[in-house]
Amino acid sequence: MEIRIEKTTAPKAKPDQKNLGFGHNFTDHMFVMDYTEGKGWHDARIVPFENITLSPAAMVFHYGQEMFEGLKAYRGKDGKARLFRPEMNAKRTNDTNDRLCIPRLPEEDFVEAVKAVVKVDQDWIPTEPGTSLYIRPFIIATDPFLGVAPSKTYMFIIILSPSGAYYASGLAPVGIWIEDEYVRAVKGGMGYAKTGGNYAASLAAQVKAHDDGYSQVLWLDGVERKYIEEVGAMNIFFKIDGKIVTPMLNGSILPGITRNSVITLCKNWGYEVEERKISVDELLEAQKSGKLEECFGTGTAAVISPVGKLRYKDDVMTISGGKIGELSQKIYDEITGIQGGTREDKLNWITFVE
Ligand code: PLP
Ligand code: COI
Repeated sequence: MEIRIEKTTAPKAKPDQKNLGFGHNFTDHMFVMDYTEGKGWHDARIVPFENITLSPAAMVFHYGQEMFEGLKAYRGKDGKARLFRPEMNAKRTNDTNDRLCIPRLPEEDFVEAVKAVVKVDQDWIPTEPGTSLYIRPFIIATDPFLGVAPSKTYMFIIILSPSGAYYASGLAPVGIWIEDEYVRAVKGGMGYAKTGGNYAASLAAQVKAHDDGYSQVLWLDGVERKYIEEVGAMNIFFKIDGKIVTPMLNGSILPGITRNSVITLCKNWGYEVEERKISVDELLEAQKSGKLEECFGTGTAAVISPVGKLRYKDDVMTISGGKIGELSQKIYDEITGIQGGTREDKLNWITFVE
């Protein structure tokens, strides 16, 4: 893929690394590529970060034909910029695209585009502990047309945001609200795809949870409202009686790359890992009998996020005494160590941005 590069003539001041938050600041450049039916993906370019112009009739505004991804670039102590398993994001992009009738992207082009734009803005990768450059690739349907049909034109864009912890609490355990009224997705729907509609569907419950002092929502299955699915922006793991348990991939939850990495690490460490259905009743039981030892969420933005409190209707479960569990800490240290280059990358998960 040939990428044209147009550098900005007005570089911005970089934000204070100690106060980044998540997703507020954007770098000097972005990657853009167009798709036109009959011509395919074309005109790959890195240009100054700027507003884009679309017709008010552009299909993305009306029927939500769009997808997005999330990954990060990390600056190691050796000064090298690293990506964590970007080929998994490329593959998931195409799984989402297939579901939404968006044309597939060559997976090597996805990774090349990410590397190229990070390279141009690599001075923006923050170095403070717990910070990284969040990378947000996305595709939008751009045809000016009000009929419900797949668009014939698209834009693929990658923007970059120097970021700190996703939750204001950092590594301190979060409180999670198990939602019993709304559902996020059902099997056969779009739950496994990374598309805006899933997040729009989550907002009403999230607002309710926030109003009650909880950080995020834990979804139950959309049919029986009985089985644990995932959290708003992360997959969920439990340590029950020494075993690691996480909901199986059933079509309605996102196949997280961090989830996959945690399962691999835990198996390699000799833990028994079960990917299966987990009912909310089983959790309540396990907590009452003292067998619910740890709970943590996994995600690119959230990294490993210990859960100290789970609320379901009138029950509030406190986990690990509201502190980070031993295993959660061990996984956090290993994953962030590999990402930051202080631990050996035995599984070849790192791609360097040359
Ligand atoms: N589940 C949802 C709904 C998410 O938005 C995310 C974040 O990307 C995840 C799970 C975790 O996925 P990953 O580990 O690939 O970032
Ligand atoms: C990510 O972790 O990359 C995500 O996409 C979560 C996002 C909804 C903030």
